Amino acid sequence: MKIVVLNGSPKGETSVTMQYVAFIQKRYLEHEFKIFNIAQQIRKLESDEQAFKEIIEDIRSANGILWAFPLYILLIHAQYKRFIELITERAAEAAFKGKHTAILTTSIHFYDHTAHNYMHGICDDLNMKLYASYSAGMQDLFNEQERKKLLQYSQGFFDAIDRDAPASRVYSPLIRQTSEYTPGTDQVSFDNHGRKVVIVTDAEEQQINLTRMIGKIAAHFAGQVEVINLHNVNIKGGCLGCLHCGYDNTCIYNEQDGFTDFYNSQLKTADILVFAGAIRDRYLSSLWKNFFDRGFFNTHIPSFAGKQIAFVISGPLRQLPNLRQIIEAYTEWQQANLVGIVTDEADDSYEIDLSLQELARRSVDYANRKYIKPATFLGIGGTKLFRDEIWGPMRFPFAADHRFYKSHGTYDFPHKDYFTRIRNVLFSLLIKIPVVRKEIYGKLMITKMVEPYKKLLAKL
Ligand SMILES: Cc1cc2nc3c(=O)[nH]c(=O)nc-3n(C[C@H](O)[C@H](O)[C@H](O)COP(=O)(O)O)c2cc1C
Repeated sequence: MKIVVLNGSPKGETSVTMQYVAFIQKRYLEHEFKIFNIAQQIRKLESDEQAFKEIIEDIRSANGILWAFPLYILLIHAQYKRFIELITERAAEAAFKGKHTAILTTSIHFYDHTAHNYMHGICDDLNMKLYASYSAGMQDLFNEQERKKLLQYSQGFFDAIDRDAPASRVYSPLIRQTSEYTPGTDQVSFDNHGRKVVIVTDAEEQQINLTRMIGKIAAHFAGQVEVINLHNVNIKGGCLGCLHCGYDNTCIYNEQDGFTDFYNSQLKTADILVFAGAIRDRYLSSLWKNFFDRGFFNTHIPSFAGKQIAFVISGPLRQLPNLRQIIEAYTEWQQANLVGIVTDEADDSYEIDLSLQELARRSVDYANRKYIKPATFLGIGGTKLFRDEIWGPMRFPFAADHRFYKSHGTYDFPHKDYFTRIRNVLFSLLIKIPVVRKEIYGKLMITKMVEPYKKLLAKL
């Protein structure tokens, strides 16, 4: 059986994910594995159409395609995404149609599900037969049980190819039916009170709705608004995954491009950030993805904490709850406030006008009041995961994170909460006594639970 492996790591064969592939390869010597270092070679694939075509021909002749990639900022690496864009740009979809496929990732399980959902959507768009996704923790290969699981999964994939097993589509094709947005002439503006507003976009001239929405929202701010187009930022390349930033948040590209400087001097100093982009496949563009990837020089430190972040999006976001969740998770984990997301999906332009006006008004109001809404599971779960990783296995090489987490109280385990500790010990013993247990669980639980709140309310 010929299996084509599309490697999504910027590190090429020196990648953790590829060690998992090597393990599968070692156990299935009867199959031929052809590995392409897609993310690492993207420059070549973009400039050399023949090199791209050769991969497509291998895909066409393969029995199975394995999308093997590391998680990068809740998704895939920007360069892997660029490859997905090239498939449609170069009309190569037919090679993927009907192919049996599987998704294998390595990560620390931070939003691995959003990356899997995205790739599943891409497989469905390409009319592939997806067997299943497999999310390996980056240390799993050292564990025998996990290795066993991985082999069971691999066997299942090979069996599915053998049987020509059917696969049921999960994601419907996207319907793109936005109409042209014509902004109204009425213009209310809101005083930013000197607060810095920055609109970041990747808009191109032909993206009429996006460009007009940016113009409209910019005009709603009475003070100065800076519009920065990512096409004009000096970005030499994608994140290399080198972890040079781990010690003190210094990116390896620092001497070569202007990304860190742009991020630190123009974005971190803003009060209100508006991120504006158009949907490309099931996410924003690969350039936007590169923005988020390269932002990793801040490692696991929330770099936009306390800021208002609004999104202006052209495209069918209502059909992409996964992308909405990525945006919510990103802003919550950043400890920023997601003001809202306005798209051009409304039927008439007036509705979009009103939404943009409201977005600008709320951005200013919230900035004035320094309002940050409480995080949901998306932000809280993510923060706890990082807290545990940085406290434990990832303290090295992420020394900067450890220093930050220590000084900012991120290590909020209850290890010093003596009141809770004593209460837990005492009550764990007491509830072993049947009469006490009956009294607590049968009668007192509900009233005792609200008692402290009542005491507090009486004081307030
Ligand atoms: C820039 C960057 C972003 C990352 N983003 C995520 C993420 O969003 N979620 C996650 O679970 N792991 C994330 N990781 C961890 C990698 O997915 C993990 O280390 C993976 O095993 C690396 O595989 P590779 O060596 O094949 O590239 C990130 C790592 C880097 C360097």
